[in-house]
Amino acid sequence: MHSIYARVNGISALWSTCVMVLLGAVALSSFLFNADPKGNLDIVSLKVFHSKTRRYPFRNEEIGFVKFNLSADFTPLFNWNTKQLFVYLEAEYTSPQGVNNTVVIWDRIVRRKEDATIDIVQKDKYKLRDLSGSFSNVHAAQYSLKYNVMPYVGVLTYGEAARTVEAIDFPDARDSVS
Ligand SMILES: *[C@@H]1O[C@H](CO)[C@@H](O)[C@H](O)[C@H]1NC(C)=O
Ligand SMILES: *[C@@H]1O[C@H](CO)[C@@H](O)[C@H](O)[C@H]1NC(C)=O
Repeated sequence: MHSIYARVNGISALWSTCVMVLLGAVALSSFLFNADPKGNLDIVSLKVFHSKTRRYPFRNEEIGFVKFNLSADFTPLFNWNTKQLFVYLEAEYTSPQGVNNTVVIWDRIVRRKEDATIDIVQKDKYKLRDLSGSFSNVHAAQYSLKYNVMPYVGVLTYGEAARTVEAIDFPDARDSVS
């Protein structure tokens, strides 16, 4: 009896060691794939509107509407240890208080290599809002296309695939719909 237990124990210890070594090798192999995909990003239009929300009728908030043109090929990021990609578009600006803000205005999860080529001209998914409620004191924003690679084994990696060449000014807010 005792010897059977000892043997099963020994085999499972060996098995665990093998699995650990294998997982370690898979995780390390990710560093061999140093793909650095680059794409194009243009802001087609940026409009700012006053919005009097029904919920906060006395709060006159400004909301930015961004239309962008984006193309990038993320297929090189897909290898045997790639579970999925998280791709997102960020607006970056410095508030009058000197704080750097980043706001995600669009994102997409890419699960298959076949879907990793992105070529779109469209409007933001999440509206651009500032905590202060206004963009009148913010001069301009830069926009960047970023990605996270989620592996099956190992650590998340980050990258930037595109960035607007120049900062884009916020226009004056216009009146509009709520
Ligand atoms: C989007 O960008 C691509 C390349 O940067 C350009 O060829 C295309 O004409 C642009 N499309 C629009 C609608 O601006
Ligand atoms: C904000 O970003 C600018 C440009 O990237 C940088 O020079 C500055 O140090 C940043 N400020 C803070 C408070 O992080």
